[in-house]
Amino acid sequence: MSDTPTDYSGPQRVLSGMQPTGQLHLGNYLGALKNWVALQDDGAWDCFYCVVDMHAITMPHDPAKLPDAVRSAAAAYIASGVDPEKSTIFAQSAVPAHAELAWIFNCVARLGWLERMTQFKDKAGKDKERASVGLFTYPVLQAADILVYKATHVPVGEDQKQHLELCRDIAARFNRDYGKGEAVFPLTEPVIQGPGARVMSLRDGASKMSKSDVSDNSRINLDDDADTIARKIKKAKTDPEPLPDSEDGLADRPEASNLVGIYAALTGKTKADILAEFGGQGFGAFKPALAEVAVEYLAPISDEYRRLITDTTEIDRILRQGAERAQAVAQPVADEARKIIGFWG
Ligand code: TYM
Repeated sequence: MSDTPTDYSGPQRVLSGMQPTGQLHLGNYLGALKNWVALQDDGAWDCFYCVVDMHAITMPHDPAKLPDAVRSAAAAYIASGVDPEKSTIFAQSAVPAHAELAWIFNCVARLGWLERMTQFKDKAGKDKERASVGLFTYPVLQAADILVYKATHVPVGEDQKQHLELCRDIAARFNRDYGKGEAVFPLTEPVIQGPGARVMSLRDGASKMSKSDVSDNSRINLDDDADTIARKIKKAKTDPEPLPDSEDGLADRPEASNLVGIYAALTGKTKADILAEFGGQGFGAFKPALAEVAVEYLAPISDEYRRLITDTTEIDRILRQGAERAQAVAQPVADEARKIIGFWG
């Protein structure tokens, strides 16, 4: 991982977040959470991990279910190894400084920048006139989430790359227009790494594993029990060919490539090693091996999730403590931006 690529000289900080819009799944884990835990355990980073409930209301949602969805995401973070004593875990909406900085950034970002965001186009669908304005400015709030902590590194899956480029554009523009020669905000580095950076649906190797896919069989949820995990892997879409001997043979075989990638991410083996072992064998042999690896890896996470989720008092305590810690770092940054931008008082 490279150092912060600016003359920015603040502390090295990590921020990331997930939307509480459905049960977290293997894609969220391998693309992001696994790296969150690695950065936390490295010890050199001050880590902030939020549940982005303000982003969750950019699409139609049920207000009665949102608080529990936030608790569920926080429980999944902790079950995956995020330690509330080492990292700050909180709900985005509990730290008003995010919204404050987002407004300032709405006036720094350019319409043309947002119009290029592919995720907006995907989520708004054909009828973009009916999409909420919040969905359009979603990446601006994301930039505020990051920069209100002056986070230097953001561990995410590959699908967030474009949003993180926008975050850098906003930081650079703010620094240029208002910084008086100083880097007020860092040019944040994305941390996108490993074979799990883009986990695909188990039902369609051309679309990513997603919380919003109508088919529950398309994903492995972090609360799935062993039988469910094994059943979903058994049912996963494949092609009729045996596994190839080398990685080249995975080109144009998205489902095979995805399952081998998941095996690699869960075991730490390279795809080449896996193909040396399973090349020439059919999915009838590979799928049970993958199911065994997945169950062994994920069972402790789902057990811990199911234990934690029954104790909402404890989760709320952790979220409150996290919000206090986060606000203590974020508010001075929002205040600095207010001052720089010329607000009264
Ligand atoms: P969200 O909630 O869609 O996803 C949360 C994290 O999981 C990663 N991810 C995946 N990685 C690999 N394969 C997949 N199939 C897969 N699906 C999801 C995502 O890349 C992400 O890291 N906009 C963000 C939330 C956000 C945020 C932020 C992230 C808001 N503010 C500030 C980082 C920093 C999102 O919708 O993630």
